[in-house]
Amino acid sequence: MLVLNGPNLNLLGTREPSVYGKTTLAEIVGELESLALNADPPLRIEHIQSNHEGHLVDAIQTLGPRSAGIIINPGALTHYSIALRDALSAVGTATIEVHLSNIHAREKFRHHSVVAPVALGQIAGLGPDGYRLALRHLITRCQQSREAKR
Ligand code: DQA
Repeated sequence: MLVLNGPNLNLLGTREPSVYGKTTLAEIVGELESLALNADPPLRIEHIQSNHEGHLVDAIQTLGPRSAGIIINPGALTHYSIALRDALSAVGTATIEVHLSNIHAREKFRHHSVVAPVALGQIAGLGPDGYRLALRHLITRCQQSREAKR
């Protein structure tokens, strides 16, 4: 399972805690790792945080095709990165877009996501729980497609 976090999400814990909460990115990823390890069958989390658009595009191209799913919080890239959207669309791996804050209740420029149309769905405003819910959903999808192949 590929987990991608975009610009400034490395600062979680200290970055505008009234908007993004006090949980650090390491804590979020640690929880996802233990949820994934306890799944049946166990899954491995590959996590990449980058402040650079091209780095995230490279990660989607190289790791995306062999991942069971992608959980992505693109940060500000959500609102304008056609390159990120195109990379997700090109690999076609089931993707869930996550935002800690409710982007629809914030400034107007945050309301639009260029990534959402190529994602299975979007979770916004539920804090770190959004990542957990996304993982749970992707795990269930994997299990269902394994069952269907039997
Ligand atoms: C964010 C929302 C974006 O608008 C913002 O640029 C971020 C974080 C969120 O998780 O709420 O960096 O993706």
